[in-house]
Amino acid sequence: MEQLVSLCKRRGFVFPSSEIYGGFAAIYDYGHYGALLKNNIRDAWWKHMVQWREDILGLDSAIFMHPTTWVASGHVGSFDDPQIDCRTCKNRFRADHVLESYGIEADKVPIETINAELERLRHEKKLVCQVCGSKDLTSAKQFSLMVKSNLGSPTNELSEENVVYLRPETCGGIYLQYKNTMDALHPKLPFGMAQIGKAFRNEIVARQFVFRTREFEQMEMQYFHHPSMTKALYENWRATRWEWYKAIGVPEQKIRWHKHEKLAHYASEAHDIEYNFASLGGFKEIEGVHARGDWDLAQHAKFSGADLSYFEETTKERFVPHIVETSVGLNRLFLMCIDLAYTEEDVDGETRVVLKFPHALAPVKVAVFPLLKNKPELVVQARNVYVDLRKQFLCEFDDHGNIGKRYRRQDEIGTPFCITVDFDTLTDQTVTVRDRDTMKQERIALSELISYLNQKLCLLS
Ligand code: GAP
Repeated sequence: MEQLVSLCKRRGFVFPSSEIYGGFAAIYDYGHYGALLKNNIRDAWWKHMVQWREDILGLDSAIFMHPTTWVASGHVGSFDDPQIDCRTCKNRFRADHVLESYGIEADKVPIETINAELERLRHEKKLVCQVCGSKDLTSAKQFSLMVKSNLGSPTNELSEENVVYLRPETCGGIYLQYKNTMDALHPKLPFGMAQIGKAFRNEIVARQFVFRTREFEQMEMQYFHHPSMTKALYENWRATRWEWYKAIGVPEQKIRWHKHEKLAHYASEAHDIEYNFASLGGFKEIEGVHARGDWDLAQHAKFSGADLSYFEETTKERFVPHIVETSVGLNRLFLMCIDLAYTEEDVDGETRVVLKFPHALAPVKVAVFPLLKNKPELVVQARNVYVDLRKQFLCEFDDHGNIGKRYRRQDEIGTPFCITVDFDTLTDQTVTVRDRDTMKQERIALSELISYLNQKLCLLS
């Protein structure tokens, strides 16, 4: 993980937030290459989930919504994690995770049970702070993950009456715009709505780089259907999402399904896709596929008074649509991509660090270099090649340092192809194309360059 964090900062993928003010915990900013990589992952998801389908509509709803939204969804009442503090080093922990580190299963158990287990460990003199070893730990208390603001409030207070929440998941916007979408676009069931956007959670512990942060991005899809179709659709969506990971270049042995045994009261099925992070030491959740029943629309219908039922013309049946949801964290996919791509190779006794991104996800597809910076004829020709290529591919022009250093830099940002304009180019109109993964070089005619790259670059299809 240290190597990834350091590479991400050094090469402009991810920066700690507000560093000049001493930093801001559990928030990260994405630099140039990070933003490009994130865009490519986002595009790959949108293509599969919206652009290449006829049954899914897009949405971009606001982060702020009517506060009753989160009362209806159950978040205000129960979107909590159990928190425990070390009085000595002042670190905070998830009490369920602390218990799990002692081999005690504590997922979704009542706070009383958690405290009873903690008390037992304390009595047996086993309970110690995982950071400083102190035995002076508080008992567990429920801590709400909802992030609050006073948006639009005439007072500075954050009281129950004027509090407005930052959404803890993006799907809330989809439920609230279900009716408008039906009225405007008249889709027939089954159909889905997809959106990508920021979500906010007051995570108690966020120490795993961009894996768990307090501000993050979700890509969610809600598939509305008749309840009789849930089982088939659920399996279909699991298969579809699995195929997507394969399509973006994730080897099947790096991912697995985790079936949830303890379900939210409204859910009939929940599975996570977990990725085996080398940087986090094992399989961790990246995506959830959930069968949510009619909970969401029924709750919003109840609290708002709006009619969110659907009338099926063919059967003359009126019902509240059920939902199968797919929900993935963009930042977790980002970390997965870097984790998967990170490679160290021994080249002539030196370590070559290379991010072997699948071509479709690589932030920069092609880099163009003049062999020498101080030869204007090479620079002009190289810039012409660059300007020509950048119309089609995300390209970079680089004339800093020697060629070896430029290759090393492009390897570290994962650029699949580097093109060098040299003195031969001026006479025979060919350039050297170097492949990131094999490091092999080929001479290619300038007139063939675009079709060569189009053939070689494996982009999404
Ligand atoms: N609408 C369902 C939902 O939000 P979730 O399991 O709470 O389900 C879905 O979240 C996905 O969002 C997770 O699988 C994860 O990828 C991402 N996610 C959740 N909390 C996160 C956090 N604090 N930081 C980064 N990603 C997070």
